[in-house]
Amino acid sequence: MANAPVFTIEGLKAQIEGKEILKGLSLEVKGGEIHAIMGPNGTGKSTLASTIMGHPKYEVTDGSISLDGEDVLEMAVDERARAGLFLAMQYPSEIAGVTNADFLRSAINARREEGSEISLIKFIRQMESKMKELEMNPEFMHRYLNEGFSGGEKKRNEILQMLMLDPRIVILDEIDSGLDIDALRIVATGVNAMRSEDRGFLIITHYQRLLDYVTPDFVHVMMQGRIVKSGGPELAQRLEKDGYDWIKEELGIVDETVGNDDEQEFQVPMNTTAPKYN
Ligand SMILES: Nc1ncnc2c1ncn2[C@@H]1O[C@H](COP(=O)(O)OP(=O)(O)OP(=O)(O)O)[C@@H](O)[C@H]1O
Ligand SMILES: [Mg+2]
Repeated sequence: MANAPVFTIEGLKAQIEGKEILKGLSLEVKGGEIHAIMGPNGTGKSTLASTIMGHPKYEVTDGSISLDGEDVLEMAVDERARAGLFLAMQYPSEIAGVTNADFLRSAINARREEGSEISLIKFIRQMESKMKELEMNPEFMHRYLNEGFSGGEKKRNEILQMLMLDPRIVILDEIDSGLDIDALRIVATGVNAMRSEDRGFLIITHYQRLLDYVTPDFVHVMMQGRIVKSGGPELAQRLEKDGYDWIKEELGIVDETVGNDDEQEFQVPMNTTAPKYN
């Protein structure tokens, strides 16, 4: 495929306020692939997502992130979005005074050349049709961004943004949390509809239930700020059944969270960068 993205993270280390959270993480996501990232609470999953998007709080101290060979770490936040990186946040922010439609239209136009902005009519038509797909009430178009949205409404709205922005690398951070069963199915349908050779996905989740609808090609487990185990869809199924203790035992990990100064060192036993499971 001519336009298939290659998104590569190598040996990434990042810290916040002097505390190292990501401790050497490597991962490669290519167009057409869906990678799921799982892992216990507080192991650095959202930090990874924020660091990729260039959140100013997180300071990268080592390693690299690239998209099609371009250095992502050199890009400003808006340049990353323009390059095709998209994050649906675990906790989407509310922005009073900016309507959902205004926000989305600016986001779309920010990714276009000056003079080739989307026309208002075309934009409204597109937004209406995507909202219909997601079974969203049309009134959400003119409500202030996420203000007063229920948990599930916020998540659905993140998916609306994904559909409208047509990103190349999609990161979904717990998009399934807070969704009722019908909404989960709708969101999964949206993701599956976006599945293509021109797009790669990184789906952070705690639960198999999303992966029942959106089958990942790779499943990675994060502990202590790095990927400690990778596999195929069967790995997520085992985690659902057995939890994480067996991995901790296998690797000799006592505390899987990050940020403990007294944590022990351990060796990751295998090459965890996107192994092939064909
Ligand atoms: N802004 C911050 N200030 C202080 N500590 C932080 C900050 N952001 C993240 N951390 C710490 O980094 C660690 C990893 O947090 P992160 O949100 O990445 O975990 P997570 O794997 O996404 O967990 P969860 O599954 O609960 O969402 C936690 O111990 C968290 O408290
Ligand atoms: Mg998180």
